[in-house]
Amino acid sequence: MSRSPTRVMFVCLGNICRSPTAHGVFRDKVAQAGLADRIEIASSGTGDWHIGKPPDARAARAARARRVDIDDLRAQQVTAQDLADFDYVLAMDADNLASLQTLYRATPQARAEVDLFMRFSNDYRNQSVPDPYFGGDRGFELVLDMIEDASAGLLADIRRRWAGID
Ligand code: 4NP
Repeated sequence: MSRSPTRVMFVCLGNICRSPTAHGVFRDKVAQAGLADRIEIASSGTGDWHIGKPPDARAARAARARRVDIDDLRAQQVTAQDLADFDYVLAMDADNLASLQTLYRATPQARAEVDLFMRFSNDYRNQSVPDPYFGGDRGFELVLDMIEDASAGLLADIRRRWAGID
């Protein structure tokens, strides 16, 4: 099969809490489905404060408790080129989405589908994933609950897209 992989990027503010969590959860889900060679996954932040840093220790710990390892990930900032290179660029909250839409309008080659990640959720449809950075551990559990739910819907959407072109 010579089809190019479907490319997915998750975006939050700092790329140390929510989007690396989504990256890790969705990466495991894709691997478990045997699709690691057909779906490429990345994550980034709209801000630049944490570039090069590993995930927040609280996010990494909460993920590990659900058997998801995100220790290998390093923060980066989203670029205009990402909006040309990725098929889906999925924002964790409405502020991140607004930032991406501004970048999109300024990028002639942009072609990604830019939306809220929770568009693909059943239980949290079209909600923002609350920023857990300044809160307690409960916030990180909610982040994981929301991401696990939307990951299933996203994988189903990608499969539907493939069915349309196969
Ligand atoms: P994230 O969380 O956007 O989920 O990675 C945050 C991380 C850092 C900051 C804000 C949110 N910060 O202000 O440094």
